[in-house]
Amino acid sequence: MRTTHDDAAHRAAPTKAADRARRPVKIAPPEGTLGVLTPGMGAVSTTFMAGVELVRKGRALPIGSVSQLATIRLGKRTDRRSPTIREFVPLAKLDDLVFGGWDAIPDNAYETARKAAVLEPHHLEDVKGLLSGVRPMKAAFDQAYVKRLDGTHVKNARTKFDLAGEIKDDIQRFKKETGAQRLVMVWCGSTEAFLTPHQVHDNPRAFEDAMKANHPAIAPSMLYAWAAITSGVPFANGAPNLTVDIPALQELAREHHVPICGKDFKTGQTLLKTVLAPGFKARMLGVNGWFSTNILGNRDGEVLDDPESGKTKELSKLGALEYILQPHLYPQLYGKMCHKVDIRYYPPRGDNKEGWDNIDIFGWLGYPMQVKVNFLCRDSILAAPVVLDLVLFLDLAQRAGRRGIQEWLSFYFKSPMCAPDLYPEHDLFIQMMKLKNTLRSMMGEELITHLGAEYYD
Ligand SMILES: NC(=O)c1ccc[n+]([C@@H]2O[C@H](COP(=O)([O-])OP(=O)(O)OC[C@H]3O[C@@H](n4cnc5c(N)ncnc54)[C@H](O)[C@@H]3O)[C@@H](O)[C@H]2O)c1
Repeated sequence: MRTTHDDAAHRAAPTKAADRARRPVKIAPPEGTLGVLTPGMGAVSTTFMAGVELVRKGRALPIGSVSQLATIRLGKRTDRRSPTIREFVPLAKLDDLVFGGWDAIPDNAYETARKAAVLEPHHLEDVKGLLSGVRPMKAAFDQAYVKRLDGTHVKNARTKFDLAGEIKDDIQRFKKETGAQRLVMVWCGSTEAFLTPHQVHDNPRAFEDAMKANHPAIAPSMLYAWAAITSGVPFANGAPNLTVDIPALQELAREHHVPICGKDFKTGQTLLKTVLAPGFKARMLGVNGWFSTNILGNRDGEVLDDPESGKTKELSKLGALEYILQPHLYPQLYGKMCHKVDIRYYPPRGDNKEGWDNIDIFGWLGYPMQVKVNFLCRDSILAAPVVLDLVLFLDLAQRAGRRGIQEWLSFYFKSPMCAPDLYPEHDLFIQMMKLKNTLRSMMGEELITHLGAEYYD
């Protein structure tokens, strides 16, 4: 068969791009211990630490952790190559993790985990040794940003810049004391009051001056992020606060060769939303309304009961649908959608949150239907494996020479960070493909497009 010049050019371009993507990057081996630092040692952080220890002791399985359990298909479907991700990429071993953190409350990780009551006593007693030894360092805390908390275990310094300097000293001390070769920091602290981007966030110089001037647009979480980045430590933000989602810290992250990601762990209701909404859209079913309500009774719920912290969380939860359903492209299907999110603090439920979703959809000829979702979930049980994966993937990213925003980790966030001229990707399945293709590309494997035409040629 004759091929035209155009055909040949067409085929050459994707081959070049594919070759580029297939060139493996140099990844430093995960030698020595990896220190995990969490500003905020509450329910999520201590459930994560306890879970890692239980898995290390062979008492439990790391359920919910993609880095530990998921496989990744390599090559063609007929090749039958599907190693686990942890066999495929050089991740740090769970045995090599050591833990530390900061909190505004002086309880050690065991006392906190006992009070949070996420884990049953038989699990907690098994890991009492490790958890009792993890004592929080004094927090850079300011009640103006978390109204419902009264921090007693806090640093005192003249300026925010001085506080950030003390966090840097803590990081170095922790590294020395534990002998950790590398570190990762994950913000597991309370949700801070709503902040909008300000000009002091525009560049590193303005940010530093603002820290020195105790500017109110510099929240405590930003001090930890600044200290981590300028110490060469990768940073993930598990809460919806702005934190690293500002140009100044993103520029610093690139300058210091530090990978960063955020915001707000995607765990319960939003996880399901980003599974269901792509399904409705894929089949061109319309959505008129989506009402989401939650009751939760843990300390996180108490903090969110304050309108300023609650607003930060509600806005984070509201974003996903708009981006997934793209009402500007499908005005007849999603142009009039009413989306409401409601979060209520209800102490009897503790960490066992309950979420209800009422979804008003419509189909062929506009006939209405309803979907009801009642998710009786466990907040910290869903969040702990997310923390583990972020720790291991951020450490991998740094050893692979990646820096700045790691969009391939959007999979784990309700409000994923991305480059300023992009819209964030919220669809869980696109996020999953992005994550796995990034790993394939790092290791020089062919990217998977799911085209599959070669099987029928
Ligand atoms: N569990 C989930 O499913 C989930 C999902 C998404 C996001 N999150 C977010 O993760 C974070 C942690 O959740 P949690 O359930 O562990 O909450 P938690 O209230 O149990 O723990 C947060 C801890 O942060 C501490 N803290 C607050 N400000 C601090 C500061 N400046 N420095 C150091 N410590 C500080 C508090 O004292 C508290 O102990 C919250 O922001 C929550 O919104 C949780």
